[in-house]
Amino acid sequence: ATPAEEKDLVIIGGGVAGYVAAIKAGQEGLKVACIEKRGSLGGTCLNVGCIPSKSLLNNSHLYHQILHDTKNRGIDVGDVKLNLANMMKAKETSVSSLTKGIEFLFKKNNVEYIKGTGAFADEHTVAVRLQDGSETSVRGKNILIATGSESTPFPGLTIDEKKVITSTGAIALEKVPKKMVVVGGGIIGLEMGSVWCRLGAEVTVVEFLGQIGGPGMDAEISKNIQKTLAKQGMKFMLNTKVVKGDDSAEIVKLDVEAAKGGKAQTLEADVVLVAIGRRPYTANLGLENIGLETDNRGRLVIDSEYRTKLPHIRVIGDCTFGPMLAHKAEEEAVAVIEFITKNYGHVNYGAIPSVMYTHPEVAWVGQNEAELKEAGVKYKVGTFPFSANSRAKTNQDSDGMVKFLADAETDRILGVHIVGPNAGEMIAEGTLALEYGASTEDVGRTSHAHPTLAEAFKEAAMATYGKAIHY
Ligand code: FAD
Ligand code: NAI
Repeated sequence: ATPAEEKDLVIIGGGVAGYVAAIKAGQEGLKVACIEKRGSLGGTCLNVGCIPSKSLLNNSHLYHQILHDTKNRGIDVGDVKLNLANMMKAKETSVSSLTKGIEFLFKKNNVEYIKGTGAFADEHTVAVRLQDGSETSVRGKNILIATGSESTPFPGLTIDEKKVITSTGAIALEKVPKKMVVVGGGIIGLEMGSVWCRLGAEVTVVEFLGQIGGPGMDAEISKNIQKTLAKQGMKFMLNTKVVKGDDSAEIVKLDVEAAKGGKAQTLEADVVLVAIGRRPYTANLGLENIGLETDNRGRLVIDSEYRTKLPHIRVIGDCTFGPMLAHKAEEEAVAVIEFITKNYGHVNYGAIPSVMYTHPEVAWVGQNEAELKEAGVKYKVGTFPFSANSRAKTNQDSDGMVKFLADAETDRILGVHIVGPNAGEMIAEGTLALEYGASTEDVGRTSHAHPTLAEAFKEAAMATYGKAIHY
């Protein structure tokens, strides 16, 4: 082994959390190394998460629209065929250009990229098994753990990524399944279920809770999107739990029953997507060598400056607290480098948007109605439907609504919830409003260009403190 080299900062994990921290550290003049074992940078998000799933969501939507939604637009199309292999190639091209782009940014910002698996040898030394099988080590004055997360397995089902799949298999199937059962109606289940439903699979989503969308989605918005997804052909079994799975034959069998005891039945599928959440990933990191432990959900425990009980070792991203989102990891990456170099940094966890990239999209920021009720906050509600928005009408894409929740007394915005076309872009305005402590009247009195979808946002704000014009 080569003698350990000393860096200002050693980062374990080159996902969004790790690579953004590495670039920021390079920009601040730190001597920094980033260790990544996957063989390419960008982590879950770029390689098997956000980016490939959005490529498939975009192109499967286009395919579905060309099949079902052109005649009434005055476009006659001929024979439309799916070329799944080429759709996958398009996805791979997007992924590889983005991951290579990060390698370029590493070079530009003097970040040393170490291709291998890191594990703590002692409190300042990370041993690395390099991709070629050899070993080295690197010492850090500071060490940042950014090892991310993995999908939570379902007991009794063996993931082979062909017949029983996680999201990783769901972005790489070689043919369209006849019947797909999705276990878990959260974000992954609905996004990947949408892709395969559009491409022709019969998709049934089994969800334990009484609503789809996973944690955080407002109940009214969840009902709204469920109706639209059902119109697209997706089937839902809510308040239903999977009790047992049998994947020994070609057709997978799942025993399901009502969540609160009741009717049992067996579902059959040629592909089962397990999407019941993700859990922090810290396996083989040598945490025991430095006395660091995880909590009962596998998360590394940190203080408000991302420090573990060993203050020079910090943690950000999916392997610690907070929502498992790429932009959350990115905010933390910048903040943690600011803590290291300047002793201050800040992330507003109350204003991190969530987006589900189905069609239409669902997006929200701040609190939902159930959360406000539970906290005993007095609030008012204003809504505006896209069916009354001129641009949505001209686009013939007018399912959904914008909903504001504001403090009953002060009118300060507490939450914004959108289901509708381009909700994921529109939520940026809601996030900015929340960040700056705006009232719904501030938004309602701001000019929005006509004709745009964003006018629905303005009018929902107007409906909160007064009246909308067009509804
Ligand atoms: P990761 O991206 O998981 O990166 C951790 C990296 O560390 C990995 O590359 C891993 O190989 C490496 N690593 C682990 N252990 C070691 C070790 N010992 N040595 C060296 N390297 C190691 N979020 C969004 O905001 N928007 C989306 O649209 C979105 N879509 C998603 C779709 C899917 C299908 C999935 C699964 C996730 C999606 N997410 C999305 C979530 C997003 O991918 C994660 O929140 C984000 O990747 C977290 O970044 P991270 O750096 O903390 O972890
Ligand atoms: P999730 O937490 O969003 O949803 C899991 C769902 O499965 C929940 O609704 C839960 O009630 C249900 N469930 C759990 N156990 C079940 C069981 N035994 N039977 C039936 N239902 C069960 O998790 P998901 O969808 O796996 O996604 C993981 C994370 O990945 C998300 O929370 C998010 O952080 C990230 N992600 C973000 C995306 C985005 O931002 N667009 C896209 C995809 C993933």
